[in-house]
Amino acid sequence: MKTEFIKNPQESDILRAAEIIKKGGLVAFPTETVYGLGASALDESAAEKIYRAKGRPSDNPLIIHLATAEDAEKYANTSECFYKIAKLFMPGPVTVILPKKKIIPSSVTGGLDTVAVRVPSNRIARRLIELAGLPIAAPSANLSGRPSCTTAAHIKEDMNGRIDMILDGGSAEFGLESTILLPIDKKSVKLLRPGAVTVEMLTEAGFEVSIDKAVTQKLSDGEKPLAPGMKYRHYAPKAQVILLNGSREAVMAYMSLKATDKGAAFICYDESKGSFNSDKVFYIGGEKDFSYQAHELFSILRKLDEDSNVDTVYAPMPSKEDVGLAIYNRLLKASGYTVLNI
Ligand code: TXA
Ligand code: MG
Repeated sequence: MKTEFIKNPQESDILRAAEIIKKGGLVAFPTETVYGLGASALDESAAEKIYRAKGRPSDNPLIIHLATAEDAEKYANTSECFYKIAKLFMPGPVTVILPKKKIIPSSVTGGLDTVAVRVPSNRIARRLIELAGLPIAAPSANLSGRPSCTTAAHIKEDMNGRIDMILDGGSAEFGLESTILLPIDKKSVKLLRPGAVTVEMLTEAGFEVSIDKAVTQKLSDGEKPLAPGMKYRHYAPKAQVILLNGSREAVMAYMSLKATDKGAAFICYDESKGSFNSDKVFYIGGEKDFSYQAHELFSILRKLDEDSNVDTVYAPMPSKEDVGLAIYNRLLKASGYTVLNI
């Protein structure tokens, strides 16, 4: 299959992309979190094509992307809690799990009786959904097991020849996947995946938030996460990532010691610039600049994969505050839960 690559898509390009989706094809498109790989969420075989193109296990359900929160009524049983979240954060980087209606094929939801619903804010994503006139099922546009794509170049690396079209809308604004919430009752929610809508923002808005164990801890064999995707060792670069848990000084001292190892690479905060010598240091932004860190993380993990001489990557243990929790969760998974207390 030849993959068409469209830079800065205009209305006529988005219209063509929408036609492809209506006919059961696959189009990668930008969202404000990461790029999505879209297909009609009403077409059983189109959803199956997504799993094939990604090499994704078919028990890992897809998120459906809608033009407005009100559209959720057509595909799911909504609730007061859903509309409260929608009013505050939609369109935007949040996904809500709801009981599904029959119209959504079970191939989309990996056989679950719930469906994940999201209303993206990205202009191209919104227009694509509007013009297609149907819900778009879209996982992140990476090959299964690779970091999510935050640029169209990443998608080209993973998906060239496997999908119909790539809409290049520039680098994804946020850089990590959406926050996933499971409504519990009117004002309480369970956080299944941390993202740009933070625990602090939800608490501030009056929600009681509990954090699913899979966000911060490795589950034991046989334990099932509420978001099936959280069980996979996603975002894993080829090299072993080791998170260093200790004071800034201790982390720097440990990294300096390892700097002479031939296969060692480092992810560092900007504050540590100049503290040791190595040509394999990737700066991820200021220690508290979580937005910048979120924007850079997946690109850095991909760059690490390009360097076959790197066998070990050392990174400071991220903070769990605000968006830090999302970075912590992704890096912890990238490391396969390998934490060194120093
Ligand atoms: O930001 C995002 O959410 C991006 C963009 C493209 O929208 N999409 C994304 O999709 O990250 P994906 O497929 O890579 O991750 C979806 C996550 C998986 O962990 C999956 O298990 C979970 O959502 N999920 C989907 N449907 C679910 C459901 N019904 N119940 C629980 N978890 C669900
Ligand atoms: Mg994904």
